[in-house]
Amino acid sequence: MSDTQLRTEFNEWARAGKGESMERGHRPVGEQAIAKMRVTPEARVLDVGCGSGWATRLLADFAFNGRVTGIDISDEMVRVARESSHTYANVDYEIASAEELPFPDDEFTHAFSMESLYYYRNIPKALSQIHRVLKAGGLFVAVVDLYWENEATHQWFDTLKVPVELLSIDDYRSLFIDAGFKNIADERLIDPTPIPDDYTGGSFKSREDLVSYREAGSLMISGEAAK
Ligand SMILES: C[S@@+](CC[C@H](N)C(=O)[O-])C[C@H]1O[C@@H](n2cnc3c(N)ncnc32)[C@H](O)[C@@H]1O
Repeated sequence: MSDTQLRTEFNEWARAGKGESMERGHRPVGEQAIAKMRVTPEARVLDVGCGSGWATRLLADFAFNGRVTGIDISDEMVRVARESSHTYANVDYEIASAEELPFPDDEFTHAFSMESLYYYRNIPKALSQIHRVLKAGGLFVAVVDLYWENEATHQWFDTLKVPVELLSIDDYRSLFIDAGFKNIADERLIDPTPIPDDYTGGSFKSREDLVSYREAGSLMISGEAAK
């Protein structure tokens, strides 16, 4: 699938209001991951695949004397993100592919990516770009729900209209190492939101699948840029 096809699909998501619904779905775990990043007031942060920009704005609350940039391949997602962020003086957005980041080397102190990595056509290239734009020792934190060890998420292969990479925790660790990251860590984050007794389907075929997904948790993987 080309970047244009990816953009078209995610533009449709944005027009259908999925940017906002993804915030509801991703925020309970995203907040936990961002809290662990220890973003300083002067930090310069990149949010890769920012969607509607909810995490970009949350990061900007921590980096109140710094700057946070969200990038997304979908121009409609970026339009939604810009509209929702007009009160933030320290936030900006760019339409860009993770595989070709339009920033100089060593520009950022932190990078974040929520539920976005496994859509990339070339994950090694994207990780190498994220490594390039981070300063030495800069921290990259990624969160993914779709990964090998979380079996309930494999059903998304049948419902997603875009190709995705199903990788294991070890695969992610190896990709981070190959891209030049050190001190790699992985952790499962648990969404504590109550599951309705009468759940009849949505992202999952059954309540049992949703429970199993929640028990496996979201995978947070992090690394520091070695330079
Ligand atoms: C599932 S959404 C998650 C959005 C947001 N991070 C959130 O948690 O709500 C995945 C996002 O990644 C973006 N994306 C997919 N492939 C991309 C790429 N190669 N470069 C940049 N963004 C990409 C999509 O446009 C979409 O907005």
